[in-house]
Amino acid sequence: MFKDLNIGFIGGGNMGEALVRGLISASLFPADRVFVFDVSPARLDYLHTEYGVGLHRKMGDLAESCQVIVLAVKPQVMPAVLAELRTRLSNRPLVMSIAAGIPLSTLERELPQGTAVIRVMPNTPALVLKGASALSRGKSVSDEQMEAGLAIFRAVGTAVEVEEKWMDAVTGLSGSGPAYVLMLIEAMIDGGVLMGLPRNVARELTVQTFIGTSSMLARPGKHPAEYKDMITSPGGTTIAGLKILEAKAVRGAMMEAVEAATRKSEELGK
Ligand SMILES: NC(=O)c1ccc[n+]([C@@H]2O[C@H](COP(=O)([O-])OP(=O)(O)OC[C@H]3O[C@@H](n4cnc5c(N)ncnc54)[C@H](OP(=O)(O)O)[C@@H]3O)[C@@H](O)[C@H]2O)c1
Repeated sequence: MFKDLNIGFIGGGNMGEALVRGLISASLFPADRVFVFDVSPARLDYLHTEYGVGLHRKMGDLAESCQVIVLAVKPQVMPAVLAELRTRLSNRPLVMSIAAGIPLSTLERELPQGTAVIRVMPNTPALVLKGASALSRGKSVSDEQMEAGLAIFRAVGTAVEVEEKWMDAVTGLSGSGPAYVLMLIEAMIDGGVLMGLPRNVARELTVQTFIGTSSMLARPGKHPAEYKDMITSPGGTTIAGLKILEAKAVRGAMMEAVEAATRKSEELGK
């Protein structure tokens, strides 16, 4: 799919590095077809030494040599990046933006007419190649370009296409979701400690419980409740624990958390 294509990253921070690592380790692009531009020369040198990627000291040079460009800078830097980029896109590359909260309409308005633009909302586990990303296509994106965009983000986890109107909900669910899960993990560890387990033992058992349970669900098919019923024997320990979680309305709290984060994302985007 990417034979003879170059991919370029503008911004080689946390997310840019995760994508570089994912693309190279998945053999989607050889290192000599991956390029990075970053304002920090130290960052560029590090990425070159660590991954063998090509470097550009000027953003425009990268833009003119790559068929796919990923904008991986902070949202507040985007206006300046778009202004500099717009005059250097004569080769009509596919442009992908991971900046939170910047809509396709802004990207399309600031780039030359007809530029193929994809907006992406990744999440933090992409840093360990286990991310969940949602992608929305702009007006000029072909099916082939969309498939290419999805393949790039599948190198750091899973990726789905959604209409842009769902980006706030994606932000409230998978964008903020790692924080909800971390809070649950922390609470479970504390529960183990409360019952006298050493903290390191409680941590190891809790983390593996989350990894193992999610891995069971990663195979499509069973509803979560089917697995839950398998563990919950009549009159047993699990149903005693679940009764407390229901009494404390954990399900409702989680739904309201997703709702509140979605509303906040809508509000910030106005
Ligand atoms: N990290 C996440 O989990 C996550 C999740 C979802 C979305 N995102 C989005 O991903 C984007 C990148 O996030 P990040 O965590 O990777 O940020 P980051 O670590 O700060 O990386 C951004 C990099 O871009 C550099 N930079 C700043 N201005 C630049 C410019 N004009 N041209 C080129 N490079 C420039 C920064 O250098 P300096 O540090 O020297 O300024 C830094 O190395 C953000 O828009 C964020 O909304 C991140």
